[in-house]
Amino acid sequence: MHVGMAQSEHKGDMIIMAIRTFEDFQNFVFKNKNIRRCLVRCDLNLPSDVEDLSRVYAIKDTVLSILDLGLNVILISHYKRPKLEDIVNPKFSLINVVNSVKKILGVDVHFEKASIFDIEPESISGKITILENLRFYEGETKNDEELSKRLARFGDVYINEAFSVSHRAHASVCAVTQHIPSFAGKSFQKEICGISSVITDITRPFSAIIGGSKVSSKIDVLKRISNIADYLIIAGAMANTFLSAKGIDLKNSMVEKEQFKTAIDIIENTTAKIILPIDFTVSKDLDTNGKNCPIESIPEKYSCFDIGEKTTANILDIIKSSKTLLWNGALGAFEFANFNKASDIITNFIAKQTKSGSLISVIGGGETIASIGNHKSDMSFVSTAGGAFLEFVSGYKLPGVNALTTEKDLLKARPL
Ligand code: 3PG
Repeated sequence: MHVGMAQSEHKGDMIIMAIRTFEDFQNFVFKNKNIRRCLVRCDLNLPSDVEDLSRVYAIKDTVLSILDLGLNVILISHYKRPKLEDIVNPKFSLINVVNSVKKILGVDVHFEKASIFDIEPESISGKITILENLRFYEGETKNDEELSKRLARFGDVYINEAFSVSHRAHASVCAVTQHIPSFAGKSFQKEICGISSVITDITRPFSAIIGGSKVSSKIDVLKRISNIADYLIIAGAMANTFLSAKGIDLKNSMVEKEQFKTAIDIIENTTAKIILPIDFTVSKDLDTNGKNCPIESIPEKYSCFDIGEKTTANILDIIKSSKTLLWNGALGAFEFANFNKASDIITNFIAKQTKSGSLISVIGGGETIASIGNHKSDMSFVSTAGGAFLEFVSGYKLPGVNALTTEKDLLKARPL
């Protein structure tokens, strides 16, 4: 480890010891025979542009185990980022995921569209019921007391099986745990242990690939990771902002001008070696074949849609010399066949290095998972979380994890 370099502070086993676990939940149910319904906060915010059902597979074991205990399951989740007026827009309804949940769980699933303020919890009788998008309620993102109390009435007991939204202090993640005995789900625990096993006592050299489109959405974690990793590889449209901030003209490419100062700050004040693209696959639009082009000579009206051949080769060299690799964020417009070459080559190489035992690889985020296709099982750990994954890796304490911290009195918060 480099002198002065921050080490992530999370120790998974210590966190698991501090929270109310799924095993605690099972014991609790055995001891309290009058429990009927379990409220499960899951993350059914499935990506709509790429097919990735990992978040549904992630809840399967927990949900089936709860059914085995003889309880009915009420699934609650957000879906995308609707505004309040979008309540009438079918694009934001959780009905869009019901068939996928049914298929993957292999159990009939009922969908309840009505507002939780208009129905009585006792009227819900199906084995599994999905309630409508939590973000249709103003109080959800405000961690509102009234909403959380109402939500808590839909279960005798609560499970957080949504690690991927546990960086949000929202009513269904935090406040609800004040009103109902609350525990972690199995996949929530796996996420904590899986990510922690890699980032606690990191085996170095440690490289991080951070992609995606916006610097603005990842500023804090970029700063933190740049002081934990040995190499920070910046890709995706985010790299455009860094290169433009250094004065390189990327023509029509997407750039966040207002983040130039942040980008320069990260480049100048970091212990990691920052790796930026030196070439791109460029094109006038996403439907046309791209061509390889050095960063200094992108033609007028062209945009960068994937990292280029030399950049890909550089990244492979860094991965080869690394012992631990963390990857979050798309490298380019991988969902278009013309621009998925770098993602394919890099994914195959990470898989090969991981399988040979020379690399520990941890991958997180819906888009990133989609971009590695069939290679999920070749990686050391794949997290369903995006933002939560990055914040956890960066050493932040997640509000949703804190909310499950053992305070035995909470188990008595509401008489059953
Ligand atoms: C995610 O997709 O990372 C989670 O579902 C959280 O979504 P959010 O960023 O809209 O809170």
